[in-house]
Amino acid sequence: FNLSVAVGLLAGLLGKTTTVVEYATTTTMVTTSNTTSSVTDATSNPLAGPWKDIRLLPPYLVPYHYMVDLQPNLEPDINGKYEFNGTSNAHFHVVNTTKFIYIHSNKLDYNEVVVLDKDNKEVPITQHWLYDVNQYLIVEMQEGLVEGANYTLHTKFVGELADDLTGLYRSTYTNSHGDEVTIAVSQMQPTDARKSFPCFDEPALKATFDIFLWHKDPNFALSNMPFVMTTVRYDQYEGWKRTEFQRTFRMSTYLLAFVVSEFGYEHSSTAGTPPVQTRIYARPEQVINKNVEYAKNITPTILEYYETYFDVAYPLPKSDQIAIPDFALGGMENWGLVMYRETALLYNEAINSAYNKQRVANVIAHELTHQWFGDLITPLWWDELWLNEGFASFIEYVGTDHVEPSWRMMDQFVLIDLHDALAVDALTTSRPIVAENIETPDDINGLFDDISYSKGACIIRMIHQFTGEEAFKLGLKNYLEQFAYGPVDHKNLFVYFQAILATQGSTNPPGGFITAMDTWVLQMGYPVVNMTRDKDVSNRATVQQQRFLLDPQADITQPYNPLNYKWEVPVWYIAEGVLQKLYFVRAKARPRYFQFTVSEDSYFIGNYGAYGYYRVNYDEENWYRILNQLSVNFTVIDVKSRSQLIDDSLTLARAGQLKYEIALETTKFLRNDSDYLPWKSSLNVFKYFDQMLGRSKVYGVYSDYMMYLVEPVYNNTSSTPEGHVEKLKQGIIMDTACSYGSVECISNAENLFHAWMNNPTSNLISPDLRTVVYCQAVANGGSPEWNFVWERYQVEGDSNEKRALQNALSCSKESWILQRFLEYTLDVNLVRKQDASAMYVSLCDNEYARDLTWDFLRKEWDYIYDVYGSGFFSFSSIIESCTSHFSTDFELQELEIFKESRSDQLGSGARAVDQALEKTKTNIKWRADHEDTIFIWLTDTM
Ligand SMILES: *[C@@H]1O[C@H](CO)[C@@H](O)[C@H](O)[C@H]1NC(C)=O
Ligand SMILES: *[C@@H]1O[C@H](CO)[C@@H](O)[C@H](O)[C@H]1NC(C)=O
Ligand SMILES: *[C@@H]1O[C@H](CO)[C@@H](O)[C@H](O)[C@H]1NC(C)=O
Ligand SMILES: *[C@@H]1O[C@H](CO)[C@@H](O)[C@H](O)[C@H]1NC(C)=O
Ligand SMILES: *[C@@H]1O[C@H](CO)[C@@H](O)[C@H](O)[C@H]1NC(C)=O
Ligand SMILES: [Zn+2]
Repeated sequence: FNLSVAVGLLAGLLGKTTTVVEYATTTTMVTTSNTTSSVTDATSNPLAGPWKDIRLLPPYLVPYHYMVDLQPNLEPDINGKYEFNGTSNAHFHVVNTTKFIYIHSNKLDYNEVVVLDKDNKEVPITQHWLYDVNQYLIVEMQEGLVEGANYTLHTKFVGELADDLTGLYRSTYTNSHGDEVTIAVSQMQPTDARKSFPCFDEPALKATFDIFLWHKDPNFALSNMPFVMTTVRYDQYEGWKRTEFQRTFRMSTYLLAFVVSEFGYEHSSTAGTPPVQTRIYARPEQVINKNVEYAKNITPTILEYYETYFDVAYPLPKSDQIAIPDFALGGMENWGLVMYRETALLYNEAINSAYNKQRVANVIAHELTHQWFGDLITPLWWDELWLNEGFASFIEYVGTDHVEPSWRMMDQFVLIDLHDALAVDALTTSRPIVAENIETPDDINGLFDDISYSKGACIIRMIHQFTGEEAFKLGLKNYLEQFAYGPVDHKNLFVYFQAILATQGSTNPPGGFITAMDTWVLQMGYPVVNMTRDKDVSNRATVQQQRFLLDPQADITQPYNPLNYKWEVPVWYIAEGVLQKLYFVRAKARPRYFQFTVSEDSYFIGNYGAYGYYRVNYDEENWYRILNQLSVNFTVIDVKSRSQLIDDSLTLARAGQLKYEIALETTKFLRNDSDYLPWKSSLNVFKYFDQMLGRSKVYGVYSDYMMYLVEPVYNNTSSTPEGHVEKLKQGIIMDTACSYGSVECISNAENLFHAWMNNPTSNLISPDLRTVVYCQAVANGGSPEWNFVWERYQVEGDSNEKRALQNALSCSKESWILQRFLEYTLDVNLVRKQDASAMYVSLCDNEYARDLTWDFLRKEWDYIYDVYGSGFFSFSSIIESCTSHFSTDFELQELEIFKESRSDQLGSGARAVDQALEKTKTNIKWRADHEDTIFIWLTDTM
């Protein structure tokens, strides 16, 4: 699915890298791992048996078909509780005889549990019980089940239709008549299908499904497949209807989808034979306002393109996509019925920004990639989640680029995924892409991170670059065709590329493709590649690698990995203006370097085009030559490489591997560069300066420098830009100019805002500038501005616009306004719980609100812990953002005291607190080592 939930306006317009991820609360599970008891012991003790081992399900029970019949009740019972009930038949094959059936089940109560043989005769059972620790329903048979036979587990059950965003759940919204409407929707990935019906809930255990859903007028039902028929009931179920769907293909349980709603839709279809019907569903108001048009228009084009690109047909007869008012993720790739949060599917040109539009296209292109990568073929186990998310996160650029060729998506990849992954993966707390010890639902949830998504995408992009487009496509086609409807692991993928490269007679990578790729997926991190001119032979340079870690004091050999943190590194470089083809710095073979000749007076740039997943460092002489080229004529250096030079040099400096005097010089050309890419890269790395130097004597001269860089670009940016990327740029440039104090910029923002305040029914502010204008007007205004935004926030129906308003609320510089706002966040009538966490994160991004917010959170910790304590991402992101600027001994002490005093109330944020302590120490050291150098450089430069 798509994780980057709130990136919309923040990352897009403000140059911030914080990703606020909202995520469904997941049950915390206790894992007991004493699994020595055998099956026979269990008869006397229901709590001791192989089900105590959370993985795997018994390999000797293999499901092949289910019938699932669900009846969600959209009216509460007399206690105000919402419920659903259901009937299910799970058909399975017995490979080895056993007296025990165990199957996943979570938060379901059973009225009936019966086992039937192939003639539908009841097979006697001794007892059945729930083993909640591992979410199992266990059935003990009187006699062992017959080896080689088929059986059916027939159950009737009841569950809560909660508003918890998991399994089968309820979502509510207010319709155009002002009435509250309740709908039933589902979110199964990764482990919540078992919360809707008992099932063998593991990705590899694919089966076919016959789905039935009950509903009442005016609602109708949707599921993965087209409906067969709807039966109207006149018996004791009068008022109910029951819809039956076509049998699914063999698929994983986590990809099932159910919806009961009165939504509207628009439809189109692909041009193929037979055409695939594509529909976009949303609340009726959204359809009337034409907010589904954009999704409707691009979907068939993307599907057709993927069919050509993968050379494998879209397998289902229809493709539905639906926008859900309450949804934990950006999007979820359920096969044939993809679900989205509203901001990821709906777009309105008059209200929403270019960034919002880009996000819609990206998320659609991502989820549609999953219809093949994830749905048709599925990882054997969650530890290979990157085979889903890495592919979807790379191919989404290919798909979006096809429908919107002017957006420069393939360039934007560098900013969005490459730089993100390189940042996270330089920490000692990272992990290998192919994860280890993944057992509990908590473990599985933890894998939906930047490593599976962004690093996965970077590795696949690197493969694409060195195999070339044709070999890449052929490899994917073979892989998809071979493993369709089945499970896969990374070896299944690599083997095809190895074979194709062999038929092409390629000798690259030198040790073979599989060996090379293992170095990238089986160990964490990545290398820094040094390209240095030899001291004794001045026309020769040597290329070597070393693991890169951000913390200069970290041990680069830890934790132990048999691959020893050496990679098979593909190197492309430019020397004397000529691009040199592929060389490898080898992991094992000796020598572990290569050399090339270079003329004595020119420069070279490694990883040209930024296709490799690594950083590059040079000898000082070469850095100065590159700097000279940037200052004389930067346009001869590819724009992706200009971005990469900034990101590499400033990160290397932070890690103590390059002088800040040199790294800072790489930003000087920005004053003359009006391209979006290098600017966005530099704002991402300068964010650290903002956090560290916000209260230091350096801040004054640092602001002056930023103004010096941005002013000419601001003055040359059209106020009515043409073109998508220009619009993205306009937003970040205006934000930068205003934030570092441009009087002209601020008064421009204030004028635009006040014109709207004076005439609230007509908002003439360009959608691309709204986030910046609202924020600046609040930051530089007083309570009238804040109150106006607050009122609009309360009534706004468009989700993206609401986000822009929400963000602005945290921009104030007035303590009393901020304090009042913080108190509002505790009142669920004013602020929805799911929105409050993002508010704290934005508040902590504001220099003027940080301390206040952190004090407030500490004071209200009991409440905060209660609400967010068990939801992984929101809790961690609050802690992360509110401590990111900590860089003094005093702050370190405070954090230590906090950890001590709340040790039993850190929940899923415990790791984030430890990381914060670690980072604070590194920050203190960074300031001690570099603050003066930076101050002197800035003072000399300005
Ligand atoms: C596991 O069970 C064995 C045998 O009952 C017992 O001796 C041992 O202490 C148990 N280990 C744990 C970690 O509970
Ligand atoms: C739900 O429960 C009612 C009342 O027990 C029952 O009549 C109905 O058949 C159940 N529905 C399903 C789908 O099992
Ligand atoms: C399980 O069944 C398979 C296939 O029938 C057989 O080869 C294997 O020996 C059986 N294992 C046990 C433990 O009975
Ligand atoms: C069990 O069901 C599978 C799938 O329908 C079928 O292929 C197989 O023949 C059945 N086996 C027996 C023994 O009935
Ligand atoms: C790469 O360069 C850095 C900085 O000069 C140095 O610390 C490191 O040892 C070099 N690594 C290799 C493998 O040459
Ligand atoms: Zn995804």
